[in-house]
Amino acid sequence: MDESRSSEVEEAHASPGAGMRRVLVTGANGQLGRALMSLLPQAGFVPTGVDLPEADISDTAAMEVWDWSRYDVVINAAAWTDVDGAETPEGRRLSWRANTVGPVNLARAAVRHGLIVVHISSEYTFDGATVVHTEAETPSPLGVYGQSKAAGDAAISVCPRHYLVRTSWVVGDGENFVKTMLSLAGRGVTPSVVADQTGRLTFASDLAAGIVHLLTSGAEFGTYNLSGGGPVVSWADIAKRVYERAGRSSDEVTSVTTEEYYAGREGVAPRPLSSVLDLAKIEAAGFTPADSMERLKDYLNELLA
Ligand SMILES: NC(=O)c1ccc[n+]([C@@H]2O[C@H](COP(=O)([O-])OP(=O)(O)OC[C@H]3O[C@@H](n4cnc5c(N)ncnc54)[C@H](OP(=O)(O)O)[C@@H]3O)[C@@H](O)[C@H]2O)c1
Repeated sequence: MDESRSSEVEEAHASPGAGMRRVLVTGANGQLGRALMSLLPQAGFVPTGVDLPEADISDTAAMEVWDWSRYDVVINAAAWTDVDGAETPEGRRLSWRANTVGPVNLARAAVRHGLIVVHISSEYTFDGATVVHTEAETPSPLGVYGQSKAAGDAAISVCPRHYLVRTSWVVGDGENFVKTMLSLAGRGVTPSVVADQTGRLTFASDLAAGIVHLLTSGAEFGTYNLSGGGPVVSWADIAKRVYERAGRSSDEVTSVTTEEYYAGREGVAPRPLSSVLDLAKIEAAGFTPADSMERLKDYLNELLA
């Protein structure tokens, strides 16, 4: 984040109220965790970041004896995010541990210690048959990852003071689709990319900014969709944009259907066709998500600088 953007962030956020400055960020080394650890101090919070192996949220005994008196807010950025790995016998257990047992442990701590809890959900809790997902949609997960996330969401949703933030297609500090496409373009590979899964990218720094907004604006507790804004696109559209920026032709990316892409592949989790999140509620709460294709341009400029 450059200097001008960080001062914008400082100006854009009200200070956290008394009783919500001390924040525990679990999964602090992940894409969202890193973005939070960078933004929270600028927004007036005092964050402590923890991750595996010292803080395993699925370790019920460890979470029981954790010193929760040191925090006002817990933001759970920890998760098992290997969607295909979750379909294996070992991955199924790990996914349920991190994505369900972990949030159950955090929900219990939040209730007992009067903490605000922020938890991140996924559009994989839906089958994707509905074109635009609102906060009110009933879960209908297709795969193990989505099922384990939906169960974790349910635990968090009964906490008196919770923000359940549902997002999609996160791009942050780590391996991601944009970097993969850039690498393929650089090597002259001509990939087939699915064109019938639609959604919007969410840059981790924007997701962190939305979470900070919820905390500092006094938004009503509850569930909020929070992805990037702007046009709805497909993975193939994004890949073509990356190829163009890398100086290649967008024709080098072949658009295929999900069915064509997965034909003959084993162990691939089913994915929702629509990842599009309705953003009206978060906008009404005073946060306007940045246009994700504009943010993609900035991100590609950074990667290629
Ligand atoms: N990535 C996406 O496209 C996407 C889309 C929708 C929603 N989300 C949700 O957004 C949130 C943040 O995702 P992300 O992309 O930032 O994830 P990420 O980069 O995979 O980071 C997750 C972090 O949690 C850690 N972790 C895993 N199991 C843990 C446990 N039992 N206890 C403590 N820490 C644990 C991971 O450590 P290891 O790396 O060592 O496992 C990693 O550092 C998650 O709730 C995810 O479900 C993500």
